Order: sequence, then C-alpha cells, then structure tokens
Amino acid sequence: EDFLKQKKLLQDKTIIVTAGGTEEPIDPVRFIGNRSSGKMGIAIATAAASLGAQVKLIYGNVTTTLPRNSKIDLISARSSEDMLQAIEKHFKQANILIMAAAVADWRMQKVADHKLKKQVQQPTLNLTLVKTTDILATIAHHKQENQIVVGFAAETNDLMQNAEKKLQSKGADMIVANDVSQNVFGNDQDQVTLLDKDGTINRWARMSKIEIAKKLLKIVASKL
Ligand code: CTP
Ligand code: CA
Repeated sequence: EDFLKQKKLLQDKTIIVTAGGTEEPIDPVRFIGNRSSGKMGIAIATAAASLGAQVKLIYGNVTTTLPRNSKIDLISARSSEDMLQAIEKHFKQANILIMAAAVADWRMQKVADHKLKKQVQQPTLNLTLVKTTDILATIAHHKQENQIVVGFAAETNDLMQNAEKKLQSKGADMIVANDVSQNVFGNDQDQVTLLDKDGTINRWARMSKIEIAKKLLKIVASKL
C-alpha cells in the first residue's frame, strides 16, 4: 500500500560481479591481456545496486570508468589468480555471482622476475603457458543450492553449440551467450542469448548493456 516501503528486487541480497579482462604477467613490464572493456560487468553492478543489492565489483583491466556508488564495493584483481582469490573470499556471503569478466585461459608457467631481453640472434620466442583455474566451474560446482551463478560465453563461431556445452560443463545456472565475431568489444549495446539450465533458451533483441543487465537481474531475482 505504501509505495515507499515497497521492497526492491535485490534488497538485502549480496551479489558479486566480475568485469574486464585479466592481465597475466609475463615479466615485470609485460602481460597477456584481452579486449574486454568491462562495460557489461559494470552495467550489471550498477543495475544490481539500483535494484537494492549490496555489490562487490571485482574488476580486472577495464577501459571505461568505474562506478562510484555507495552500494558498490570496488575490488581490484589483476590476474586470474587474484580474481579467484577475491571471489573465494566473498562468495560464502553472496547470493549471486555473475562472471562477466574475460578471464585468461593461460598464464605463464613461470613469470620472469626481470625484463626479458631480446637477443640479436633471436628471431623467435617461445613462452610456456599453463591453464588457469576455471573460476566459474570451480565456484559453480561448489555452490550452495540457493546461490545463483551466471556465466558468459564469448564465441566467434558455433555460438549455440558452444554455449550449451559451457552451460553443461561449468555447472552454472545460466549462461549469457554472445557472438564476438563482429568486433563487439567496447560497444554500449549487445545482442545476447540466455540459456537456462532448466532448458529454456531466449534470444534477446539488440539492446544497451544497461538494459541487458536489468533484464538479466530481474530473471535472476525471480529465481532466488
Ligand atoms: N571463465 C572463468 N575462468 C576462466 C575462464 C573463463 O571463470 N579461467 C568464465 C568466464 O568469466 C565466462 C565463462 O567462464 O563467464 C566462459 O568463458 P569463455 O572464455 O567464453 O569460455 P571458456 O570456458 O574459457 O572456453 P573457451 O575460451 O575455450 O571458449
Ligand atoms: Ca576463455
């Protein structure tokens, strides 16, 4: 009856959102990175805050402005290992995890402790890389029943087959699939398809990342 007392959709909920790309160090001055801008994750964090959630925004390399909002705690995480640690620290108290970050799949087997120098007679360089921990799969496979974990699937080809496979293998409640073949990085809009572990698949129209964030969070909130 009193609209002022109306509860917001994510009131009293804690959500962890990851954004941006990780940086895997090669030596003190170089890293392996990717083209993620962080816009999707930041849009989700901002939308969650406006729906009343307490937000932990764990961000890697972002090329856009970070939000300033009393409901959003900003937590910097450079490498995939930093990101995993930050998530593990906060996940027990969280209701929702949304992995919008572009986490590197490979890191240096051994990070050089000094700047790698090129030699005059050296036409090639081989770096030995090892797989990073799959954060989404690790967390989703150990989550509580009432916690919701959402992943993203960035694909350049066979979008739906690959996204379906990720939904299965990662143990996530939902996967947001997007086609990254057409240079979508840094855009304010996106076109995504939501795959739910209950079997429903919904292709959404092209819309702003803010609108995608709101739409996604309303669905997540309805499952809590
Ligand atoms: N992800 C993760 N930890 C990693 C790699 C990816 O948590 N080490 C998460 C991403 O944040 C995303 C989802 O897994 O939510 C899918 O990432 P994507 O790169 O599309 O898939 P991968 O499983 O890494 O497989 P591939 O890159 O070979 O397609
Ligand atoms: Ca990957």
